[in-house]
Order: sequence, then structure tokens, then C-alpha cells
Amino acid sequence: MDHTERRVGARSFARLLGEWRPADGRRLASALADRIRLLVLDGRLPLEIRVPAERELAGALAVSRTTVAAAYDQLRDAAVLRSRRGAGSWTRLPTGPPGGAPPSPFFLLDDTAPHELAHAALPAPSEHLRRATTAAVHDLDALLGGHGYDLLGLPVLRTAIAGRFTARGLPTTADQVLVTTGAQGAIALVLATLTGPGDRVLVEHPTYPNALDAIAARGAHPVPVPMTTDPGTRADGWDLDLLTAAVRDAAPRLAYLIPDFQNPTGAVLPAQDRERLVDLARRTGTPLLVDETLAELSLDGPSPPPVGSFGGPDSPHVLTVGSASKVIWGGLRVGWVRASAPMVRRLAARRAALDLGGPPLEQLITARLLGEVEEIAAQRRIEVTAARDHLLGRLSALFPGWAANRPTGGLFLWVDVGAPVSSRLAVAARRHGLVIAAGPRFGLDGAFERRLRLPCTLRRDRVDAALDRLLLAWAGLDQVEAGVPPEPVAVA
Ligand SMILES: Cc1ncc(COP(=O)(O)O)c(C=O)c1O
Repeated sequence: MDHTERRVGARSFARLLGEWRPADGRRLASALADRIRLLVLDGRLPLEIRVPAERELAGALAVSRTTVAAAYDQLRDAAVLRSRRGAGSWTRLPTGPPGGAPPSPFFLLDDTAPHELAHAALPAPSEHLRRATTAAVHDLDALLGGHGYDLLGLPVLRTAIAGRFTARGLPTTADQVLVTTGAQGAIALVLATLTGPGDRVLVEHPTYPNALDAIAARGAHPVPVPMTTDPGTRADGWDLDLLTAAVRDAAPRLAYLIPDFQNPTGAVLPAQDRERLVDLARRTGTPLLVDETLAELSLDGPSPPPVGSFGGPDSPHVLTVGSASKVIWGGLRVGWVRASAPMVRRLAARRAALDLGGPPLEQLITARLLGEVEEIAAQRRIEVTAARDHLLGRLSALFPGWAANRPTGGLFLWVDVGAPVSSRLAVAARRHGLVIAAGPRFGLDGAFERRLRLPCTLRRDRVDAALDRLLLAWAGLDQVEAGVPPEPVAVA
């Protein structure tokens, strides 16, 4: 995909479409329109991008031009494409019914789709949060005389974050920490500081979709390294030889990795491979951007030491991203980067162009809650373990042909649905008022059509109601054709 000219070539488009042909007797044009619509709605195909001309796409897909023309017609009717005669067609977001509410990417606020299995995030620990907020309102008094801007984050929070790293085995001082707007803000800041348009960024494949989007937004190119799956246990993992070869061949500017309960596979990188990874970074000069967003959510015993601990406290090769979102609450929007003190100053300088710092009240609340994080995490473990086991039980009862892993931590299952139908299932699910993120949302070029990420974060009654809808969608998979789901999928 050429992001500078905002157009997608026919061959890339064909790859992005993945396996879109209907297995049943459905019309090819409808199936093609459905697939393109899904790519637009869940963000894999950017908005306002020019799609290939009918003839070119027909050639790349080995279908007739009439099929592509009919699919584009359906998409124009559904307001997913706009065309200018003689100039081409561009993707757009459907605007919904005339006079209706404007479409929101935040489908959770949209009660037309009350069931969702796309976010893997827990509700707030309300008692802790209320208490910490009351106390933080008093803490705020001391700051009200100042101007309120802080590129690095409040010292009290930086100290609390440094203390947490130290407790987890990575000695850290406050000057090695920069507070960001969630881990997502941290990822975007590191990309903005260390990479530029055209640079390569190594990623696991599959990986966290919003990181892929941040890489694309930077104009950088992801270099995917496949995760491996053990056929017996279904556990996913890393092939360090493959990763080493990819670093050597592609010479990426940065490697973005999620070694703790990898999103979406739930895999954990063993200690000896963490050491190898840091050694590789040191030898090749490729900095590691280590995403520890899920690290505090171990369900089955202790995790290996942080990757950063293998590089020494001042290593210039490891930048670690963390967040309060998963263990405490996403609504705080507090995350951080841990790096060498000079790198933290470099990041802070770059940050001025992005957001000038985070709100102090949320930082004060988080600083207080980090003091109680062991207790909060212990409660989370109980809830998530029960949710994981419940979900596994329901899945094997309702979908006997599916295969799920049993992650040892994190907030989701990475399910194999047994056939390359994940995108179609997402379309069918929307018809039953359920939002799911299809497997390809977590990869590049239409990969992972057999996969679905399901969160272990909902109360039992809510997950059961969502799974009832998923079952209806699964049973009605054959009927998937044109239909206009109004909102794109946000994933966390
Ligand atoms: C691996 C990973 N990184 C980053 C994020 C973004 O986290 P935050 O809410 O802190 O921005 C998430 C959220 O789902 C995640 O799973």
C-alpha cells in the first residue's frame, strides 16, 4: 500500500482481501463487497484511499470486470466508496441514516450494538478508584498554583512507576521514566522519536493492531516475524532464530515486541530468550520497544524477569512501555516509557509536538493506586482466571470444532475457528448486534482468517449473551452478503 499517494495497488489490495470467495453459492460480487466493507470498517483499509480501477482489480482477482463493477456499485450504495467519473473511487466512512446521530468509532457508546467482544479491558476497581480519586483531589491543591504543563509527568508518579519496575526486578530511577497518554501514547512517541517515513519496524505477527496503525501513521513499514504455534498444546511462541534472521536481513530501525502475554496470542517469552533478544539488540544496535502493558496480569504463577533487566539498568537498547490500563483502568489513560535518562529527555523534547503532557489529576490518582497495585492485581487474577475458564468451557460446549489456547496470563484467548471465515463471522455477528474483531485485524495482508481474539474480561451474563449471538452468527455464516454495519471496530 502506498501511503504517500493514498492509493492501494491491485496486487496489495488482493492480498489484503485474503480469502474472500464464498464457499457456498453466494454471488461473488456480494462477497467481494462485504469483504471490502469490513476492511474499511475495521480500519485495515484507510479512509480516503483510492482503490484499484475495476479492470485492474478484476485482473488481480481473476474475476470478471462485471463482478468488480457490481461490488463497487454495492459499496457506493452503502456509502463505503465514493467515485468521480474518470478519476477513480475512494474509500469513505458511511454516514448512517440521514438525520441520525453521526457515526462514532467508539461503538461502546452506541447502544445499537450493546454486545461486544472486541475490547480486552476490565471495568475499574471502583472502590479503590473512588478512594484514590478523593485523596488525589486533595493532592491536586499543591499543584494549582503552577501552570499545569509537564512533559515528563508528575515527579510523584514517575517515582511510583520507578519503584514498581525496581520491585519487579529492573532497578529504575524517576529520571528514567516518562509518563504518557496510555501505552498507545508511549508507542506513538517512541515511533515519532526513533523512526521516520520509510523506516522498517519489526513486529510479531500477529500483533497489537493499534501498534500496526501507529507504525502506518508514521509512514514506517512493519516487518512481520511469524509467531509459532505448538500443534500439541496450541501454545504460541517466538522462534528466536527467525527473529534474528529478520533483524539481520531487514535491518529494522526498531523492534516492537510484546513478551508478556503477547497480544493476541497470550504467549510469554522465556527468560533465556529474553537474554538472547537483548544480546541481539546490543550486537545489531536495533533498539527494542518492549510492550509490558499486560505484564502484571499473570494468572498461573510468576512471570520471567522484565526484558529490560537483561540489558542492565542504563541500557540504551531497551525501551519499555507500560500502562495502568489493564491492571487498573483504561479510563485513566496513563502509561509510561522507561528508558535511559538521556533517552527520556529526548522523548520529552519530541513530545512537545504531540500533546504537551497529561492531565495531573489522573496522574495523582494513578500514583496512589500504584501503591496498591499488588492488591488490585491479586483481585484481577481471580476475576480473569474465572472468566478465562468460563469462556473456555462455553466455547467447547458451543463450538466443538474450534480450538482455543489456555493462556497463562493476559486478557484474551486466540481461538482457531477451523476455517478461514473470521471476517465473514464479524459481518454476520454485527447483524446480531455483536461486535467482534476479526483475526486479520491483528495481522498484515489478510492473515489470520482462521482466528478470532476473544476477551476474558466480561461478566458471565454478558459473555453468555454475547456468545449466544456469536452462535447465531456462526450458524448464519452462509447468509453473509451486503448489509451496512455503521461503525468501525475499535480494539484494545
Ligand atoms: C499490547 C498492548 N499495548 C498497548 C495497549 C494500549 O494501552 P493503553 O490503554 O495504555 O493505551 C494495549 C491495550 O489493549 C495493549 O494490549
